[in-house]
Amino acid sequence: MFLRNAWYVAAEGREVGRTLLHRRLLDEPVLLYRGEDGAPVALADRCCHRHAPLSKGLLEGDRVRCGYHGFLYEPSGVCVEIPDRDRIPPGARVRSYPVCEREDWIWIWMGDPARADASLVPTYYTNRPGRWKSVPGYLPVASSYLLLVDNLLDLSHVSFVHANTIGSRDDKNPELVWDRGDRWVRGTRTVRGMAPSPRQMQDGADFPIDQTKIMTYTAPADVFIDIWTREASVPAGQAMRHDTTQLILDFLTPETATTAHYFWSNVRNYKLDDDAYSTYVDRLMVRAFEEDRAMLEAQQANSDPRLPMIDVVGDSGSLQARRLLDRLIAEEQRLASAAA
Ligand code: FES
Ligand SMILES: [Fe+2]
Repeated sequence: MFLRNAWYVAAEGREVGRTLLHRRLLDEPVLLYRGEDGAPVALADRCCHRHAPLSKGLLEGDRVRCGYHGFLYEPSGVCVEIPDRDRIPPGARVRSYPVCEREDWIWIWMGDPARADASLVPTYYTNRPGRWKSVPGYLPVASSYLLLVDNLLDLSHVSFVHANTIGSRDDKNPELVWDRGDRWVRGTRTVRGMAPSPRQMQDGADFPIDQTKIMTYTAPADVFIDIWTREASVPAGQAMRHDTTQLILDFLTPETATTAHYFWSNVRNYKLDDDAYSTYVDRLMVRAFEEDRAMLEAQQANSDPRLPMIDVVGDSGSLQARRLLDRLIAEEQRLASAAA
């Protein structure tokens, strides 16, 4: 069961062009492409005639022609031509989804189109030009998107899973505080005086550091992690040798109940024009998130919902996030039943 009246990332903007891209989202087949004016289009990837995937067809200007018997569809999803037939049956159409392009991503609204409001697409403080450098990435993951949410809200995994990439073995015993609102849960996690990670060493920090991470989950599927890293124990009057801010944007779109699309960006406020460093960050984050993927896929395959799990204090954020999401889904279901 998914929350439907919400924006999800469907694709990176650079993935979608004048070819037909199939993507399964919230367990529905979706076709993505750009019209001749460059605007993204999302249609159900299932022809209304005999259910062939439209992604196996052809683009004709702004329209898409099914590759099986040639039904032709407008970006609105309406069928406007059936080869060798003068009459188009009523109801010959496929679903068209509201989409919206922001920065590196194309967002999709899979619920009631009347409720799609572009002002609800998540915003974050890094979309001011010039002051931030964004390095986006994508991985498909064979686990529920909820396991990704758990992973990003419980960063005690970092010193184990990412010891060779972005984690420090010292990243333990944090000060950890949680708060929450109507649609969000936020944890503030601070560790002082820890040994730097391989990435921080690369950033020039070869001395102990203090690090604060603020993990903000917004329902249904976004987790933003602010990371402030500073040299530890700097005596008064002495210049700090290291002071950086990163933001990791994580967008976790369900593909099916047990698989997900993991979109992210590593955003930083330093080395803004250093392309070689951006390439290093790109490769490092892919390596790090492949470390997560290996664990999450093994966890998904291994987990048994009939068996209990033992919770510890570090699970507080993910448990609150699950409760919040369950409440929103139940509310949505109630409203849908009442309207029906
Ligand atoms: S299945 Fe698409 S035209 Fe027949
Ligand atoms: Fe991780």
